[in-house]
Amino acid sequence: MISCILKTKSKVFFAFLFALVISFGALAQGASEQAEVATKGVEPGSTQGAEAGSADPAVLDAGASLFKNNCAVCHSAGSDVIVGPGLQGIEKKRKEAWLISWIKNSQALISAGDPEAVAIYEEYNKQAMPSFAFSDDEVKSILAYIGSQANVAAAVPTTVAGVDGATPGENVGTDAIGAVGGYLDIILVVLIVVLIVLVITLLLISSLLKNYLNKNRQLDEIDNEVVNQRFDFSKIYKSKAVRTLVVLIFVVVLLDLTLDKVMGIGIQQGYKPQQPIAFSHKLHAGEHQIDCNYCHTTVYESKSASIPSANICMNCHSQIKKESPEIQKIYKAIERNEPIQWVRIHNLPDLSYFNHSQHTQVGGVECQTCHGPIQEMDVVYQYSPLTMGWCIDCHRETPLNTEGNKYYDNLVKMHDEASKGAFTVSSNGGTECSKCHY
Ligand code: HEC
Ligand code: HEC
Ligand code: HEC
Ligand code: HEC
Ligand code: HEC
Ligand code: HEC
Repeated sequence: MISCILKTKSKVFFAFLFALVISFGALAQGASEQAEVATKGVEPGSTQGAEAGSADPAVLDAGASLFKNNCAVCHSAGSDVIVGPGLQGIEKKRKEAWLISWIKNSQALISAGDPEAVAIYEEYNKQAMPSFAFSDDEVKSILAYIGSQANVAAAVPTTVAGVDGATPGENVGTDAIGAVGGYLDIILVVLIVVLIVLVITLLLISSLLKNYLNKNRQLDEIDNEVVNQRFDFSKIYKSKAVRTLVVLIFVVVLLDLTLDKVMGIGIQQGYKPQQPIAFSHKLHAGEHQIDCNYCHTTVYESKSASIPSANICMNCHSQIKKESPEIQKIYKAIERNEPIQWVRIHNLPDLSYFNHSQHTQVGGVECQTCHGPIQEMDVVYQYSPLTMGWCIDCHRETPLNTEGNKYYDNLVKMHDEASKGAFTVSSNGGTECSKCHY
């Protein structure tokens, strides 16, 4: 009879463990569903945020992708500061008209002396936010997206950075996984604490019972043995249930970690290494308006843009600021006949082929489209993700300039007969594997 009680006790224990695993699974599922809501914008009719629910999902999607591609390097949609402030609640904090002019050209607002603009500029140490050539509707879609994130953030304890359907290998996607990961960590800790408390309680009850039985009852031999058996640790690790559980937890943790890493492999968006000389593009290309190809001499003619040699610096610095310790570093490099060891920022893997002249000269794509506001950077950072998806997205969207080029006449005619869309880079074969892969 007593052995029966004790057996029930161990059954209770395993039932508890089982329930723990199930609830952990369910919570994890819940968290990933939350994240999914976060990535897709709040579904209309869901319990949270009537405001976001009323926004058009297509607008939210457009806003999400604009935000991800243009703003997420510097801003979170939550309250975290990255380079600029977290934008949670910004659509309530500022007037829409103000936000539109700010996002289109913050520097203009600041120079015009707008008090709000000047205040936020001062607060962030006069870091210039790049200007964006968006239409009013595009800006509104970004604001709608930020608004929808605030509602999700209110439902999820940790903020989930802006994402839409984590495209494999996009930096921002990994952030969201990280945020959900953080959420799971909290649940895990709480569960472990609950578990420990329960185990202690069970042990206390068990020892109380044991004492009581030993003192007050005449036990027969078998019962006596059961009640006073010693706790055997080897039984725990020999137990099948415990082993399966350990393996299960191990696999889940491992999967989580690899997923995190795999999503971010090779992506260096935002990479901003310290350079050996404090060379500033903001000063040279911005204030002094030196042409990009004055220094990156081959950017319009060849595959590589090239990094200037010290001789190019000397064109000016044999006269200008000779006494500056930073300029002295250029002199030392020339004396020693060694190149300046600039740290490379943009670097595609060898399996892919990218040609500057094809884009800058033939395609007429601006440097800033791919490299961001270089003329405002004191220290250059990698503005674009440089993933395959990034190349291909642009090739699908960008119309090819075929004007006045007889070579295209027939192709364009055939294309127009077959489809209504514009004749894009991809219509001309710009998404064929062999164009970018050797
Ligand atoms: C290169 C970094 C960078 C990028 C990219 C960037 N911002 Fe900013 N943003 C800043 C900084 C820094 C500030 C703080 C003000 C300042 O120093 O100019 C700021 C301020 C703002 C503010 C004002 C916040 C407030 O509290 O009033 C808004 C709104 C804003 N950014 C929206 C955007 C949007 C939308 C995008 C994308 C289209 C974007 N930003 C892209 C750096 C950036
Ligand atoms: C006075 C010379 C000079 C001018 C003008 C200049 N650059 Fe540079 N650029 C450099 C030097 C030196 C480096 C390497 C150090 C660094 O990264 O800051 C560099 C680095 C870069 C990089 C990063 C290269 C890498 O390692 O991946 C990019 C992108 C770039 N420049 C783009 C531009 C653009 C766009 C312009 C025009 C708006 C421009 N540069 C104008 C000298 C110049
Ligand atoms: C076309 C002329 C020109 C070229 C080429 C040029 N610079 Fe400059 N550089 C300037 C001017 C102008 C200033 C600003 C001087 C001032 O503030 O009085 C400057 C300032 C600097 C400063 C800041 C010095 C200080 O202590 O304030 C550094 C560092 C510098 N340049 C590095 C370089 C390097 C490295 C190169 C070659 C990659 C280079 N420059 C090429 C014109 C040039
Ligand atoms: C279509 C996008 C695109 C445009 C437009 C573009 N770049 Fe690049 N740039 C890249 C990519 C991608 C890389 C990395 C190339 C690699 O690793 O092989 C790069 C690398 C560079 C580098 C590092 C040296 C090198 O060649 O690898 C410099 C400097 C540079 N770009 C300057 C410029 C300048 C200046 C312009 C405008 C005249 C410009 N880029 C226009 C995409 C672009
Ligand atoms: C901002 C838009 C943009 C981005 C980003 C971009 N491209 Fe392009 N690309 C173009 C345009 C526009 C052309 C067409 C140039 C022309 O022939 O007029 C082009 C053409 C090409 C071509 C020649 C295609 C053909 O049909 O001959 C190759 C190869 C190419 N790009 C590779 C890349 C790679 C690799 C990347 C990513 C690292 C990339 N591009 C990123 C706009 C872009
Ligand atoms: C417009 C240019 C472009 C086209 C077209 C293109 N790729 Fe890529 N691909 C790239 C670039 C750039 C990378 C490197 C991306 C990175 O480092 O994240 C890449 C990476 C890859 C990788 C390595 C995967 C990785 O994440 O490292 C494979 C495999 C690949 N491409 C296969 C293909 C196949 C198959 C096609 C045809 C269906 C194709 N690519 C078409 C530009 C292109």
